[in-house]
Amino acid sequence: MRPFIHVNCAMSADGKIAGEDRSQVRISSEEDKARVKTLRSKYDAILVGVGTVVADDPHLTVKGCDYDTNPIRVVLDPHGRTPDDAQVLDDRAPTVMVTLEGCDREWDCEETIRAGKDEIDLAKVMETLAEDIGIEGILVEGGGFTISTFFKAGMVDRYTVFVGGLVIGGSGSPTPCDGDGWVSEGGIGLELRGCEVLGNGALLTFEPRRRSPSRRLQHELVIVAVLPERLPGGHLV
Ligand SMILES: NC(=O)c1ccc[n+]([C@@H]2O[C@H](COP(=O)([O-])OP(=O)(O)OC[C@H]3O[C@@H](n4cnc5c(N)ncnc54)[C@H](OP(=O)(O)O)[C@@H]3O)[C@@H](O)[C@H]2O)c1
Repeated sequence: MRPFIHVNCAMSADGKIAGEDRSQVRISSEEDKARVKTLRSKYDAILVGVGTVVADDPHLTVKGCDYDTNPIRVVLDPHGRTPDDAQVLDDRAPTVMVTLEGCDREWDCEETIRAGKDEIDLAKVMETLAEDIGIEGILVEGGGFTISTFFKAGMVDRYTVFVGGLVIGGSGSPTPCDGDGWVSEGGIGLELRGCEVLGNGALLTFEPRRRSPSRRLQHELVIVAVLPERLPGGHLV
């Protein structure tokens, strides 16, 4: 069992989520910021990778909520790079750190999950979050590498991306889905579920495309569909 996984991020009109030096860029409109605030409060947990913690030092809390009412913060940090004074470790919300089994770094936090020898075992982490901590829904907020590992693992149930009215540029600027890529495997098909103007930008909502039947199965379905018309007397079977 794993939680429902919703990936949310904001990108520029040229598909970047930050500057080439990984500096934070204001992409969301005021309307999108308000949406994200509501969205965060609907999920049991908010997850980011350590790259985002190091680059942005986010607190990942909801304004007006406290330790007991904020979503749990989860950081994927295989090698223990999160600084002790990172805002994500403050007392405004519980925090779960996730490292490799061989990492012995400790933090002053609610819990540390150590899963995977060479790379983080994402399936095991999600199972632990669901079954041991009771997390039913998780909001993955970035960055590009972290999001790519969820797409690659086939673990994205909803993907929302706000496309803001600015161009950031730079071939090295991070995008919503970085990492190694998998174009040779045909990419990952998504169904567009919604498109909404939010100030000077648009929010796109996607869900994973359900696999269409194989060619052979499609052929058989066509035969079944035409068969009744060919029966004498037009009787259906
Ligand atoms: N516009 C937006 O909505 C938005 C949101 C968030 C972040 N950002 C931007 O995104 C940039 C950061 O993105 P990023 O891709 O560099 O960093 P990231 O995805 O936040 O973190 C990547 C690092 O986290 C660890 N990690 C994450 N998932 C892992 C997994 N499944 N298995 C193993 N390790 C995992 C690895 O750490 P190690 O390197 O230690 O192995 C990896 O290098 C920043 O510039 C930030 O401003 C933008």
